[in-house]
Amino acid sequence: MSAPHAIITIDGPAGTGKSSVSRRVADRLGARYLDTGAMYRVATLAALRAGADLENPDAITASVADIEMTLSNDPGSHAVTLAGEDVSDEIRTDAVTKAVSAVSAVADVRTTMVALQRDIVAGEYAVVEGRDIGTVVFPDAELKIFLTASAQARAQRRHDQNLSQGRPSDFDTVLADVERRDHLDSTRAVSPLRAADDAVVVDTSDMTIEQVIDHLVELATDRIGARA
Ligand code: DC
Repeated sequence: MSAPHAIITIDGPAGTGKSSVSRRVADRLGARYLDTGAMYRVATLAALRAGADLENPDAITASVADIEMTLSNDPGSHAVTLAGEDVSDEIRTDAVTKAVSAVSAVADVRTTMVALQRDIVAGEYAVVEGRDIGTVVFPDAELKIFLTASAQARAQRRHDQNLSQGRPSDFDTVLADVERRDHLDSTRAVSPLRAADDAVVVDTSDMTIEQVIDHLVELATDRIGARA
């Protein structure tokens, strides 16, 4: 049986388990996968490498205009390139994470990324993960999920992850950072983070990753069907 052509959008703030969940849901469904946050991270790396003034939207737009990026839409692959160079680790550094809100708030950058996102999964059965996928990129998606969790729960997960990876971590600082990013992402003028009116909202505060995955796979198979 061939896979249905369908898009499943998974949006929500950081710390909801979105990335691990989205990849594994795509894998279980036999679908393609697109991490749009990685694309904004590549754009940010390009702006940083070009030395663009991050307070100047025109400078950011110019530094991102002609970038060559590639992403795999295989859920098992983290491969991301910028101008032919593998940048899959570099886009996760603190420098990029700190600057990405400024770059992803620029309207022209979003227009370029949205066009690319639609192109990468055109005609596919795909899980697309981000912040504005159900609201802006694929408003007609067959299934829209919005993952949420309390700021406390999300901060606790990040704090635990820092400690388990041997990084120093202070819970109150992590919580303040989570709240700062929430505020920036949900109040920006262009494509603020919000659930689409027809999204299924899933609060993951008291769920394990496995429970969230099972729940989303069930929602998807009920609505769309999985590849046999
Ligand atoms: O999911 P992530 O942390 O890798 O996303 C990186 C940043 O990109 C995050 O600050 C929000 C932004 N982003 C966005 O504005 N729109 C998307 N569709 C995906 C991510």
